[in-house]
Amino acid sequence: MPAIELTDSVGHRCSEVTLTCGYMGQQKTNMTPNIDQNGNGNKPNAREALEAMTPIEQCSLIPHTNMANTLRTPRVRTVLNRLFAAAAHDHGTPRWRKPSLSWETATTQERADASESTYMPISPEGGDLLYILVRAKRPNTVIEFGTSYGISTIYLAAAVADNGAGRVVSTELSEAKVLAARANLEEARLADRVTILLGDAMTTLNDIPGPIDLVLLDGWKDLCLPVLRSLESRLTVGALIVADDINLPSLSAYLEYLRHPANGYISVAFPVVDGMEISCWTAGGASGEEGAL
Ligand SMILES: C[S@@+](CC[C@H](N)C(=O)[O-])C[C@H]1O[C@@H](n2cnc3c(N)ncnc32)[C@H](O)[C@@H]1O
Repeated sequence: MPAIELTDSVGHRCSEVTLTCGYMGQQKTNMTPNIDQNGNGNKPNAREALEAMTPIEQCSLIPHTNMANTLRTPRVRTVLNRLFAAAAHDHGTPRWRKPSLSWETATTQERADASESTYMPISPEGGDLLYILVRAKRPNTVIEFGTSYGISTIYLAAAVADNGAGRVVSTELSEAKVLAARANLEEARLADRVTILLGDAMTTLNDIPGPIDLVLLDGWKDLCLPVLRSLESRLTVGALIVADDINLPSLSAYLEYLRHPANGYISVAFPVVDGMEISCWTAGGASGEEGAL
């Protein structure tokens, strides 16, 4: 029989855990196995306690220590509050420093340079949603397309940090934004979880090895589909893809692709501010009678 080792959510061996089973909100079982700080104590008691439980009961190991919620810490809240307050002035910020440029004809770099002082962040609810998805999915590799000043990156990094495993690779065209985002992540004490690559996502992400478990697409909307296609061969089956601002017409080709049954995704719109599309990569398109809709 394999040895049973009790660990908390970040992999530390627990000296004390409470085994809890909840059914319809009621606590049914509550046992405290007798294990010392090195995990060497009376292990048979822990094993017996676990073996007495059904698999569903065994799912609820609630550690008393090392429960982390980095997102709610004062240092992270302070940084996020400041960045969201600054982003609230986006609409008063001239997006185009060169009036002769038009969004449709400008290159991706020209758009990025012209938008250097605008944040264009996800909403706080969208950030919470990202945190939830990363906590639940426990990805090893998270890719972000479009760092800007690092607001969404902070939510992703906080979740990865609280999982105790994983890393975020983000990419951004504007050098000024890359420097600012790195400083913001330092201030939030999350920089050790994040690599920010300066440059065009269509090239900077090419060398990131798979498997990729979760992707946030929040760069220029007409590039979301090409960026996703460039990552597709490295997606792990079950990878989550999140796209922000799905209410914008420029994401219609992206949505059409993700929602088409032949393309290997299960995809739904989620009603946070501006709309987010959450998609799961299944690797299997519709085929034959069983797959056809
Ligand atoms: C909507 S903002 C990102 C907001 C950020 N995710 C947040 O929530 O704070 C889009 C950013 O994507 C960057 N971007 C656009 N196209 C890009 C590309 N091809 N490669 C890298 N970054 C890009 C822009 O410079 C801009 O800062």
